[in-house]
Amino acid sequence: MMDDTSTELSMNPGRAAESAVSGQCRPDDGLAEKSPRVMVVTYGCQMNVFDSRRMIQVLGHAGYVETDDPAAADVIIFNTCSVRDRPEKKVLGSLSRLLPLKEIKPVLFGVAGCVAQQHGQALLDRVPYLDFVIGPDNIADLPDVVTRAASGRRTSSATWMDPRSYDFIPLDADVEAGPVAFLTIIKGCDNFCSYCMVPYVRGREVSKPAGLVLDEVGSLVKAGISEVTLLGQNVNSWGRGLEGNPTFPDLLEAVSAVPGLKRLRFVTSHPADASDRLLDLFGRLPNLAEYLHLPMQSGSDDVLARMGRRYTFAEYFNRIERVRAACPDVALSTDIIVGFPGETAADFESTMDAVRRCQFDLMFSFKYSPRPGTAAASWKDDVPEAEKAARLAALQAMQDGITKSRMQRFLGRVEEVLVEGPSRDSRKDGALQIMGRTRTNYIVNFTVPGGRVPSPGELVDVRIERILAHCLKGVVPG
Ligand code: SAH
Ligand code: SF4
Ligand code: F3S
Repeated sequence: MMDDTSTELSMNPGRAAESAVSGQCRPDDGLAEKSPRVMVVTYGCQMNVFDSRRMIQVLGHAGYVETDDPAAADVIIFNTCSVRDRPEKKVLGSLSRLLPLKEIKPVLFGVAGCVAQQHGQALLDRVPYLDFVIGPDNIADLPDVVTRAASGRRTSSATWMDPRSYDFIPLDADVEAGPVAFLTIIKGCDNFCSYCMVPYVRGREVSKPAGLVLDEVGSLVKAGISEVTLLGQNVNSWGRGLEGNPTFPDLLEAVSAVPGLKRLRFVTSHPADASDRLLDLFGRLPNLAEYLHLPMQSGSDDVLARMGRRYTFAEYFNRIERVRAACPDVALSTDIIVGFPGETAADFESTMDAVRRCQFDLMFSFKYSPRPGTAAASWKDDVPEAEKAARLAALQAMQDGITKSRMQRFLGRVEEVLVEGPSRDSRKDGALQIMGRTRTNYIVNFTVPGGRVPSPGELVDVRIERILAHCLKGVVPG
């Protein structure tokens, strides 16, 4: 986890994840011994996870093999997030810790993603041991950039592509690892919420045409993927600017009908654009999993207005009531920012009340951090750090209780679980533990006493027997 202010890892685009992408490209086996190796470390949201796979894919075409061992890597790329201040600093810290590698062998260091887009050439000027910088719109150039860097020409490729001619990199389905895959369907963001960097580092919205999305989902399923999560900073805007102005619910219905697709998810939805038609699809499309991430940000109408969110709390709550009416068991998660400029104690109390009323399954919460170039950065960051921390702690403590009570509903129930693989603490207590997720996106660790061990991607019915802090425990009934 990249930011210690978030409560848990799940489906949040702003979630702080740090992971080495594994299992793509060509296998890192003996046959590939002479091939150059690339390691990609991913921070930030699922769109960055998707982009990391695309980087490995394009370098795979240029003969690279993926590794998760820095000592074996010829190229190390940090795919970065700049949504808050802390992750940005952490990336440079992590890179400098790898510096001794350069004394042993000619390894290239690259920074990709949102920090790369934000700083471009300035990052190369500032960090002498950095060999290249590559923005999210320039992934197709990566092999050239790496070749240039290898010949000593430090390169920054972080230019914007014209939205009218933006081309998505066609997906090689076989570079996806495991039974679940992310698929970006819209890039950029046009909302310009007053605190947010994303529109500045990801550019204007461009929707991937429906035909491409359907082809990609089809080839993912053929390659063995069971679950696809459609990604965008605001998936609800999908379709604007495409021929015939299709809408996101149109796309969801079409994707849901792809033969063999066991589960479908999407993230993130902007509450102001979450139409009745979209919310009513929950419980109606059989493979649309019952999980919705709907970032609220604040419960105070004044703060919401200054954030530029385009809804009041009452309007937000109406969305929640609508989706719960369509599908009572739906799991809901949200994002909250505390300590936004001008947030009074009363505003914060409104957020506490709102979170209490909404009864989210999961919350990701953050202390406001001013981001250069955004509208809010020119306002006084007037909530003292200690007060931000106290508000965050109070909010998280309350949500922990709500999450705990929301989880109780699963006790004794039989849930459909999509198997992801062996559980992390497998065999700790002697029995093989399998890890998977419910349709509501809760992690379940379970055993299969005496039965056939299910493979990744299979759906199994699991009886939930225990509720732990962040996951469920269960057993496949005999
Ligand atoms: N597109 C998503 C959010 C993407 S960023 C949406 O509109 O909901 C993920 C989360 O990071 C945001 O929901 C917000 O809660 C948080 N965030 C964004 N900018 C921030 C900032 N400047 N300070 C603190 N948190 C921020
Ligand atoms: Fe940022 Fe707002 Fe766009 Fe989300 S909708 S990415 S918070 S500008
Ligand atoms: Fe972070 Fe960029 Fe995603 S700023 S949240 S990695 S779009």
